[in-house]
Amino acid sequence: MTAPESTVIRGGLVITASDELHADVLVQGGRVAALAAHRSAAAEALTAERTIDATGRYVIPGGVDAHTHMDFPFGGTFSSDDFETGTRAAAWGGTTTVVDFAVQTKGRALREGLDLWHAKAEGKCAVDYAFHMIMSDVNQSTLKEMDGLVEEGVTSFKLFTAYPGVFYSDDGQIFRAMQRAGLNGGLIMVHAENGLAIDVLVEQALQRGETDPRHHGEVRKALLEAEATHRVIRLAQVAGAPVYVVHVSAQEAVAELVRARDEGLAVFGETCPQYLFLSADNLAEPDFEGAKYVCSTPLRPREHQAALWRSLRTGDLQVVSTDHCPFCFQGQKELGRGDFSKIPNGMPGVENRMDLLHQAVVDGHLTRRRWIEVACAAPARMFGLYPKKGTIAPGADADIVLYDPGAEQTISARTHHMNVDYSAYEGKRITGRVDKVLSRGVVIVEDGQYTGRAGHGWYTPRANCQYPY
Ligand code: URP
Ligand code: ZN
Ligand code: ZN
Ligand code: ZN
Repeated sequence: MTAPESTVIRGGLVITASDELHADVLVQGGRVAALAAHRSAAAEALTAERTIDATGRYVIPGGVDAHTHMDFPFGGTFSSDDFETGTRAAAWGGTTTVVDFAVQTKGRALREGLDLWHAKAEGKCAVDYAFHMIMSDVNQSTLKEMDGLVEEGVTSFKLFTAYPGVFYSDDGQIFRAMQRAGLNGGLIMVHAENGLAIDVLVEQALQRGETDPRHHGEVRKALLEAEATHRVIRLAQVAGAPVYVVHVSAQEAVAELVRARDEGLAVFGETCPQYLFLSADNLAEPDFEGAKYVCSTPLRPREHQAALWRSLRTGDLQVVSTDHCPFCFQGQKELGRGDFSKIPNGMPGVENRMDLLHQAVVDGHLTRRRWIEVACAAPARMFGLYPKKGTIAPGADADIVLYDPGAEQTISARTHHMNVDYSAYEGKRITGRVDKVLSRGVVIVEDGQYTGRAGHGWYTPRANCQYPY
């Protein structure tokens, strides 16, 4: 299938993070070439080989999911979506860029991990992709390697205060990585939970015979997220570097971010749909069903959600990513029957994010422009992809979603496209649905059909963090 060289999308409401315009959009050579007000002389003058009718649709930038784990080795298994199935599901859900986490194996070079992730993704992706680097081992050699990675477009590094013996780094290692990032322009991302204290609580819970999934949420205490969040904020302050806290779930952790931002510090945070729409009640579902909701940071009691929504509105949290890390219930989540600490941590969601956040618009939590900000523009700016990604403006890649705001749908594993045997949102009613998806001007989803192909998606090197701070 060859795409027409030019397309005009007529009659829709173009929504970006900054504007809502009744405008026609001209796409040429895979990029946005012009916007012109409906029925204006400028719009009449737009000519193209193909016209797409967007009457009654929102015309929005393709989603940017800055936190996915495709084909990720964790908990003795691999996440069940690889780059082919996972990015195809992303496309179905209106996400046209994913930033996935390449993993350094302890004792090996960052480069080796990055090469492996390139090999996993090459030729498989339905949408454009980029990489962050997980540093499992901060030492003199990997610190030096960071500079080269930043130069070639891997401009962010994830470190963990959690998972001792796996991805854990101590404060000195995190501090050195922050100092390096302060010099080379990289952005340090931190999974902030006090993993050493959590491991003590895990051991004690198991000794008491508390083995069910709900105990995963109980031992990973909100205060231990807040403590680690506070610690990495202050380490970053002293190191003179910005820091981005991933998958924030506890209101006490949000409070740490708010306080630091009120002091004027360059600290940023993301949350994920699971923390906004699900809760510890799901972890307590009987018959081991709670295992479907085991992820870290854990789902919290419902009262934490208000702080997350508020911070997304005020800008104290900037980004909503999925942390898409699916494990099938059968055969994978089941590894932890009788011991919650052996349940692979992670949840599916790359296909659901744009819809769930549109539901947040319908429910009155976010405005339409804020929806586009947290789902498209802010992640693109934060991770050096803007304005190529994350907006609809002349020169931007024509990653465009036609969104039907009035359609009704019910989320279900029977109809989703992620390679996982359950949905965390099974039965949830959503107002709104992706109608068409263009990636660099090529229609990849249309009329309920996937029309893209594996390998259409390009690796996209990134600039440094462009978030204003
Ligand atoms: O439970 C999660 N979040 N699994 C993925 C790995 C991580 O910590 O982001
Ligand atoms: Zn109009
Ligand atoms: Zn994490
Ligand atoms: Zn993650």
